[in-house]
Amino acid sequence: MSESIQFSKSATRETIYLEVLPQIETLLKGEPDLVANLANVSAILKETFGFFWIGFYWVRGDELVLGPFQGTLACSRIKKGRGVCGEAWETARTVVVPDVNQFPGHIACSSLSRSEIVVPIVHKNQVVGILDIDSDKLNEFDKTDVRFLEEIAATIVLHCLEV
Ligand code: SME
Repeated sequence: MSESIQFSKSATRETIYLEVLPQIETLLKGEPDLVANLANVSAILKETFGFFWIGFYWVRGDELVLGPFQGTLACSRIKKGRGVCGEAWETARTVVVPDVNQFPGHIACSSLSRSEIVVPIVHKNQVVGILDIDSDKLNEFDKTDVRFLEEIAATIVLHCLEV
């Protein structure tokens, strides 16, 4: 693997995703360990986009448990259906929240978080985890993020879970 991620700093978000996605794929193909890969995906998204908080929660029984992340201290466990993460788990759908203060039941791990996207990671028709990204700006995420973050989730499933 190359030792750093290459991307055009002043390009559009879509261009950056297009540049970074094949690099994520190469990275995941070359490393079988799930935790190592989730840690590096968090780091890559932090480095490329500078989002406030990026991380994974993994399904453990009836809860989501915190996994690899980049950012400030976060809640360790989330019940099914609770908060944005729990909703993405329960519905198996990506949830985009333009303003976390308008989301009933939002779990505030940091008062600096203003908007959020949560993408389920689905393996064999079951949500096995979620990718959660928080921004300190309102209305940070749109359909471009949905499209590419869902592709990243699918890449994780393909290269880390279907082996
Ligand atoms: N805000 C999330 C909780 C996780 S943190 O943002 C890291 C939620 O409402 O589920």
